[in-house]
Amino acid sequence: MKKLDMMYEGKAKKVYRTDDPERLIVEYKDDATAFNGEKRGTISGKGVVNNRMSNHFMRLLEEAGIPTHYVQELSDRETLVKAVSIFPLEVIVRNIAAGSFSKRYGVKEGTVFKKPTLEFCYKNDALGDPLINESHIYAMELAVPSELALIREYAYKINSFLKATLQQCGITLVDFKLEFGKTADGTVVLADEISPDTCRFWDAKTGEKLDKDRFRQDLGNVEGAYQEMARRLFG
Ligand code: TMP
Ligand code: ASP
Repeated sequence: MKKLDMMYEGKAKKVYRTDDPERLIVEYKDDATAFNGEKRGTISGKGVVNNRMSNHFMRLLEEAGIPTHYVQELSDRETLVKAVSIFPLEVIVRNIAAGSFSKRYGVKEGTVFKKPTLEFCYKNDALGDPLINESHIYAMELAVPSELALIREYAYKINSFLKATLQQCGITLVDFKLEFGKTADGTVVLADEISPDTCRFWDAKTGEKLDKDRFRQDLGNVEGAYQEMARRLFG
């Protein structure tokens, strides 16, 4: 597999073409942004942790029957993935109130939900990724009902699986954001990443935040949190 020209540079990753049109290489950066790019910084070693962690979860999810874009880890920052067209949706699952949920609804951070919640945001930086509902998704033709049904089913299954897996490492899965894509043959697959950039992880005993909220909220020891998550998962 030959790495060709860069196709796209995002906030936390670069995407390269390969000599196979159905395969891309993602490269994880240490760059971090928050509040739609308003806050910028570097989290040293983040790219390595996110690449490894995301690939670990995607491999486990594949085994559990969830199709993903993951193909092969190429290096400590690079992974071969299936080329997909991304649904312009952020799919957010929450087990505990935090972040925008707490802010929007005035619900105290840490309030545990009886059942997980699921919400969609329209992936559009210019608009600040606004909340969107199912009928809006159909009106804008961002996905069709059969695709959205699969996305919903996968999102809840991923939540159950990740929650249980993380619990064994002493981590509480508070919430997370997923992105899905469609391969050339129309298969809906989990794409993007699952990492401390895209999830809220709290230490199950102390409640210590072990994710990007340390960067967003200037809590200090940001690098340490990413390394601690790697230690919990990989020893
Ligand atoms: P929120 O509470 O800010 O809406 O975030 C919900 C989850 O989504 C949280 O785990 C962090 C993740 N997230 C992203 O992955 N990217 C984003 O741009 C934002 C705002 C949140
Ligand atoms: N990735 C987001 C941004 O800068 C921020 C976040 O994750 O909170 O747009």
